[in-house]
Amino acid sequence: KNEINIGLLGYGVVGSGVATILHNHQEDLRHKLGVPVSIKKVVVKDLEKKRNGVISKEMFTTSLDEVLNDPEIDLVVEVMGGTSAAQEAIRRSLEAGKGVVTANKDVMAESGPELLKLADENKCDLLYEASVGGGIPLIRTLEDGLASDRITALTGIVNGTTNFILTKMKHENKTYEDALAEATELGFAEADPSADVDGIDAARKMVILASLSFSTEVRLDDVFVRGMKEIKDGDLQLAEQFGYTIKMAGSARKDEEGIEVAVEPVFFPNSHPLATVNNEFNAVYVYGDAVGETMFYGPGAGSMPTATSVTGDVVAACRNLLLGVNGKRLHAPQYERKVKSDDQ
Ligand code: HSE
Repeated sequence: KNEINIGLLGYGVVGSGVATILHNHQEDLRHKLGVPVSIKKVVVKDLEKKRNGVISKEMFTTSLDEVLNDPEIDLVVEVMGGTSAAQEAIRRSLEAGKGVVTANKDVMAESGPELLKLADENKCDLLYEASVGGGIPLIRTLEDGLASDRITALTGIVNGTTNFILTKMKHENKTYEDALAEATELGFAEADPSADVDGIDAARKMVILASLSFSTEVRLDDVFVRGMKEIKDGDLQLAEQFGYTIKMAGSARKDEEGIEVAVEPVFFPNSHPLATVNNEFNAVYVYGDAVGETMFYGPGAGSMPTATSVTGDVVAACRNLLLGVNGKRLHAPQYERKVKSDDQ
C-alpha cells in the first residue's frame, strides 16, 4: 500500500474536526506511517448545506454505496451519530471488508458485541476510542495498558454537557437553561440533549467501559440511571454550604455477586479531585487489583478533542492495514453475564 484513503460518514462537530486534523497534521501522519492518509469521500445528508472547512465540494456525496463500492477506500470513519442508520452503515462497511473507526457510543452501547464479532469475522478493525471520554484515551488504556489487571471498579464523570451545566450554575450563577444553550452552542450536547441531562449518554458510556473492564456484556437496561432533574433548586447551594459539590457521576463495580452500574448525581467533598473537574472535562478513576488506583482526566466533549481520539484510531487502523494485521483485537471469550439487578 502506498496510500490510505478514508470514507468519512458525517461532517458535523466531530467530522469536520477529523478532516481538519488529517489536513493540518498530514505531514506528521505521513512521517509516522510512511504513506499519506487522506479523506476521499464524505457522506452527508444534505449536499446543499453550506460547510466551511478543508474538504472540497466535489468530495461530498449522499451515497454510502459510493464509499462501500470504492476499492480505493480502505477505512470508514463513522461520525454521523444517531442509532439505526449509523449501525447499518458500520455493519455494511465491515461486511464490505473495510475497517471502521466510530465515535458512536449509542451504537457501541447497544450493538457493540455483535459488531465487534462481525469485525472479527471479516478480519477488520472496529475501533471506538472516541465513544467515551472525548479526548481521553480510555478505551485503549483499558484494552492495552491495563490488560493484565483485574479491574474491580470505575467511577467518574463521563458526560461533558451535564458537567458544563453544573459548573456554570455553581461558579457563574447561570440558569440551567442558559448553561444548556451554551453547551449546545459549543457542540458539547447531543442532538437531543435529553440524552445528556437524563443521564442516558453517561449510562451508554458506562456500559462500554464496564463491558470492557469486566470482560462481559453489560446492557443499558442494567444501569441504574438518575438524571439531572433529581437536582432540585437550592441543592447546589446547600451542597456548597457544607463544602460539597454535586456532580453527575457514573460508577461500575464488580464483586463475586455480580456487577453493578449506575449514573446519578453524587455529592463530592470539595477536596475530592472529581469535585474540581469543571466545564466539559471528564475524569475517570479506574481501580485494579494490581495497579491500585489510577485517574484519567481530559476534555470529554467538543470537536477537536473528540476528533483527536477518532484520528488516533485512524492511525492505529492504518498501522494494521500497512502491517497486514487484519483486525488487531483478539476478542477473548467473555465472562458470563452476572448483573446484580438481574436478581431483583
Ligand atoms: N454529549 C456528549 C457529552 C458528547 O456531553 O459528553 C461527548 O460524548
